[in-house]
Amino acid sequence: MQHKTIIEPFRIKVVEKIRMTDEAERIAFLKQAQYNPFLLHSSEVLIDLLTDSGTSAMSAEQWSGIMRGDESYAGASSWLRMEAVIKDLTGCPYILPTHQGRAAEHLLYARLGGPGKIFLSNTHFDTTRANIEFSGATAIDIPVPENKQTDLLLPFKGNLDTEALKKQIELLKPENIAGVILTVTNNSGGGQPVSMANAKEVSAICKQHGIRMILDACRIAENAWFIKNQEAGYENKSYKEIAQEMCALADGCVMSAKKDALVNMGGFLALKDLDLALQCRTVLIITEGYATYGGLSGRDMEAIATGLQEVFEPDYLDYRIKSTAYLCNHLHDLGVPVVRPAGGHAVYVDAKQFYPHIPVHQFPGQALVCQLYLKGGIRTCEIGSVMFGKNDENGNLIPAAMELVRLAIPRRVYTQSHLDYVIETFEELLKHRKNTGGFKITYEPPFLRHFTARFEPV
Ligand code: F0G
Repeated sequence: MQHKTIIEPFRIKVVEKIRMTDEAERIAFLKQAQYNPFLLHSSEVLIDLLTDSGTSAMSAEQWSGIMRGDESYAGASSWLRMEAVIKDLTGCPYILPTHQGRAAEHLLYARLGGPGKIFLSNTHFDTTRANIEFSGATAIDIPVPENKQTDLLLPFKGNLDTEALKKQIELLKPENIAGVILTVTNNSGGGQPVSMANAKEVSAICKQHGIRMILDACRIAENAWFIKNQEAGYENKSYKEIAQEMCALADGCVMSAKKDALVNMGGFLALKDLDLALQCRTVLIITEGYATYGGLSGRDMEAIATGLQEVFEPDYLDYRIKSTAYLCNHLHDLGVPVVRPAGGHAVYVDAKQFYPHIPVHQFPGQALVCQLYLKGGIRTCEIGSVMFGKNDENGNLIPAAMELVRLAIPRRVYTQSHLDYVIETFEELLKHRKNTGGFKITYEPPFLRHFTARFEPV
């Protein structure tokens, strides 16, 4: 029998209490946080969909590993276990542990970047772009054009535009291009997956011109699910084999272990080039820690070694991707404008379409984020003009390309009934859609304003 309910493929052994709140309390909490949910205390939140990063629940195996963690300064057995698992996955001989993804990015892009250098990507994640620009280099996004069509049902809308890649190489000259970064899945591009065919083509173009290809592999297991289930020729390969095949196409990988390694902290850089690895290792030792622990304790490395194997279990990945699709499809059926098809780790709602009467300079995404909190205690993240908007010299808003709200789903943390509760909250929001108003910013810092900006209802 084929059941229609996707049950969580685990039993719950330890629970973490959610403090239940009502709307009256939440009105006060949100006012106190000046209408920016980043400023809420986590105890004031019922369902936290702010990020899928570092928010996974670890397994009994991982928690047992925590006790086995070897805290030796050099050559710890936990390091050797983590190193072996990463070598097996990436095929890279040189592995550098770091405290999280952006530390690995900093080691690599500071070496490869610098003024005059250019990076091309299917979409640079914020910290990737920031590390590149901090080095003085330039980051250019070249996703396939379908990526911006939010309701177009195609399987691999996270792909890199290979025609644009060839044109850029001709225009900019191969010697100026410091790297091509393929981010799987494409987090800043609606969480959409990348096909193996696209990765192969990118790799071939890079090889032809002697350009380095880097994989941002932080959601590579989720990406492998889409390849196995939607790309011809991969039906009979295991998820891990698919991920290994993709890593083999690149010259190196950066990974934030806070996503698909199912841990709360960690990351790594994996490289094939000895000379580059030695340069990065020197800085690793100066800034992160000795070469066999980076910024990690032995117990963290033990948990990563286990998580990076568990994430490829078919039952887990099936549950993971289908629960994200469950939320996405139910919201779509209600009439909520969502980016489709569902990506792996998050559902993105188009707030401009949800609140068409709220002009972009009154931040429809922030309105939705606040309503989700008030009506449901649900914390989400605006990815629109609060995050990416800029002001011109007269202080007028130059809006972002889209006004999205991301509902990122932590791994193994929430059950189907939590997702049903989120869906019900949207039903309520739809009823009050027309009399929901926008916001104005009363304080903003010069950089990354979404974290600490303060707002007032208009
Ligand atoms: N690359 C991608 C694609 C990411 O999504 C992230 C983090 C990083 C790199 C940086 O990793 O946080 O360990 O330093 N994304 C989180 C998010 C923060 O919420 O999407 P980190």
